[in-house]
Amino acid sequence: MRLLLAAVLAAASTLCALGASQTPIVIETDNTALVYTVGNDGRLYQQYLGKRLLDPADYDAAPRGPEAYITAGMEDYYTPALAIKHADGNPSTLLTFKGMKVTEPQPGQRTTVITLTDEKYGDTVDLVFDAFSATDVIKAHSVITNGEKKPLALREYSSAMLHFDRPDYYLTQYNGNWASEARQSEPQRLAFGKKVLDTKLGARAAMFLSPFFTLGLDTPAAETSGDVLVGTLGWTGNFSTTFEVDHQGRLRLVSGINPEASTLKLAAGEKFQTPEFIFTFSDKGTGQASRNLHRWARDYQLHNGNQERMTILNNWEATGCDFDEQKLISILADAKDLGVDLFLLDDGWFGNKYPRSDDHQGLGDWDVTHSKLPNGIGRLTQAADSIGVKFGIWIEPEMVNPRSELYEKHPNWVIQLPNREPYYFRNQMVLDLSNPKVQDFVFSVVDDLMTQNPEIASMKWDCNSPITNIYSQYEGDQDRLYVDYTRGLYNVLERVRQKYPDLDMMMCSGGGGRCDYEGLKYFDHFWASDNTDPEERIYIQWGMSQVFPPKTLCSHVTSWDHQASMKFRTDVALMGKLGFDLKVSDMTDSDKAYARAAVKAHRELAPAISDGDFFRLYSPYDGDHAAWQMLSRDGSLGVVEAFDLHPRYGQRRPILRLQGLDPAARYELQEILRADTSEGPAKTYSGDYLMTVGLPLFTGSELSSRVYRLRRK
Ligand code: GLA
Repeated sequence: MRLLLAAVLAAASTLCALGASQTPIVIETDNTALVYTVGNDGRLYQQYLGKRLLDPADYDAAPRGPEAYITAGMEDYYTPALAIKHADGNPSTLLTFKGMKVTEPQPGQRTTVITLTDEKYGDTVDLVFDAFSATDVIKAHSVITNGEKKPLALREYSSAMLHFDRPDYYLTQYNGNWASEARQSEPQRLAFGKKVLDTKLGARAAMFLSPFFTLGLDTPAAETSGDVLVGTLGWTGNFSTTFEVDHQGRLRLVSGINPEASTLKLAAGEKFQTPEFIFTFSDKGTGQASRNLHRWARDYQLHNGNQERMTILNNWEATGCDFDEQKLISILADAKDLGVDLFLLDDGWFGNKYPRSDDHQGLGDWDVTHSKLPNGIGRLTQAADSIGVKFGIWIEPEMVNPRSELYEKHPNWVIQLPNREPYYFRNQMVLDLSNPKVQDFVFSVVDDLMTQNPEIASMKWDCNSPITNIYSQYEGDQDRLYVDYTRGLYNVLERVRQKYPDLDMMMCSGGGGRCDYEGLKYFDHFWASDNTDPEERIYIQWGMSQVFPPKTLCSHVTSWDHQASMKFRTDVALMGKLGFDLKVSDMTDSDKAYARAAVKAHRELAPAISDGDFFRLYSPYDGDHAAWQMLSRDGSLGVVEAFDLHPRYGQRRPILRLQGLDPAARYELQEILRADTSEGPAKTYSGDYLMTVGLPLFTGSELSSRVYRLRRK
């Protein structure tokens, strides 16, 4: 039925050519508008970007902004959206409007394609905008076609260019390193010149910088007020977003694949499709922007976005690579004991000539280590099945240790420089995914495991190294490598998803070194960080929540930070995709009881935690506390979590005001998951009271936490 409707709507699409005098091109969601207009010179200009106006005729009155997709080599002297070097050496491009087309590929999504052309050279650029009405999200990408008789060189090929003309701009970025992902910067005021957020790391692209940002317009971004734009590039490779303020104080944002070391040759007639730049505008602060992205992701982008996620016990922190069949079977029993859905066997189960006893060898040899697991994976899936726990497994199929049979057999499958000593990152190298044979191999890692063990319910797909020694032994043109690597990865993931649409898959990259929305078309969730110290995790989850919904954030309770109680560690993990990664045999009875109760509560509260709206109530960056709230989409069930970090003696404590409630409704608030798993007394308040007056939910105790359930009466 849905398909039929989409087909009917697609057939009703409009294709038209506009002249300068015609109405502007309006790309709208329920609350946002991005408007273009064609000038008398035939070029396309951005007319408006911001809150949707009641009467579309008013867009005509808005002052016309700069050219929409500025090309290099003409009158503009700042960062271009597009730079082409034509076969005759001409480095300039002049684009004029040719036509547009609007379709509705599915209910709630309207796609506008604006076609521009360079009349002299025949090249075309399609600017494609997918507007999602209910969630106020717009995705933008471009398709560049070489209309010349000879090859051209694409030197810049951005996904989107957006313009702003405001008194001030404040940029917040999210950067860090292994174990300190997505640290939120102070909002930085952008002055004349350029600020570039980019990466050149290739595979583990987001190790130092997450591919998203918050832009406060007029004022620094705030949680519940003000105009903000939150954006991110869907590309699991080198990305670049440039913010440039010109001499008139206007800001342009240019986002796309990082073109550095990646000039692309396009043959005559060849097309290049850029990745999607995804953004949402909110005039109610970043909280609303995040909720827009979360809802959109679950409804339209995330793999199996509206399906339940499994709770998990992982063995990495408990055993490293040091385990055997017996040990794993007893950990399976622990998983059952905690009540989680899945046990996931991490690194260390493969390699025979070079058994994977640590990270120095064996990577690439995906046969089970006989000395550790004489009865294969099958024995483990049987054991899991017999006790009623699902089974998952870790792989890192894009990488190889030089000490491996794979490297011995196929040294030319590895990205490595001629005439140079290799540089190893975590003792490993990267396979050359631009090579279709390597793509087949990487696919076979998943396919062989699944064919031999169809009971496998989940995979953790790791990627621990950036691309090092950057040189392909397959590609003739080295400039294509970074781009073709990522496209090769998508080819493999596409095949995996064609064949295994229901396999649960975690994206992992030495912690959160991969976190982007194109990856999440294939993966159900991602490992936000190896750092599971609960205090640090509050910051990391806070940062990631700007763009990604809680159900994508794998949050595991571990033994990092012994000072924090089991309750505190678990409460932090409760907001995401809950899991455990510790020695269950070392846990006290009361800690186990708490873990079991949390798993149960997480399941019962899933409409709020996994599929609801997320409200950041109190930022850990603001002081010694943190708090967040989750509310089911129908508003009937909520969860509030309040954390005290290091409050000082006698310090005044902030009052927590809840958000998103119906002021006229009454809500029952009850503390749940107290340290002994008991529930506190229930109290009833109006939504108005909870949002206006608020509650004193913080305490003066070091590393303490409370969880409350909210029920609309
Ligand atoms: C990476 C992951 C960890 C774990 C190890 C195994 O660091 O982030 O969770 O899987 O690899 O080597």
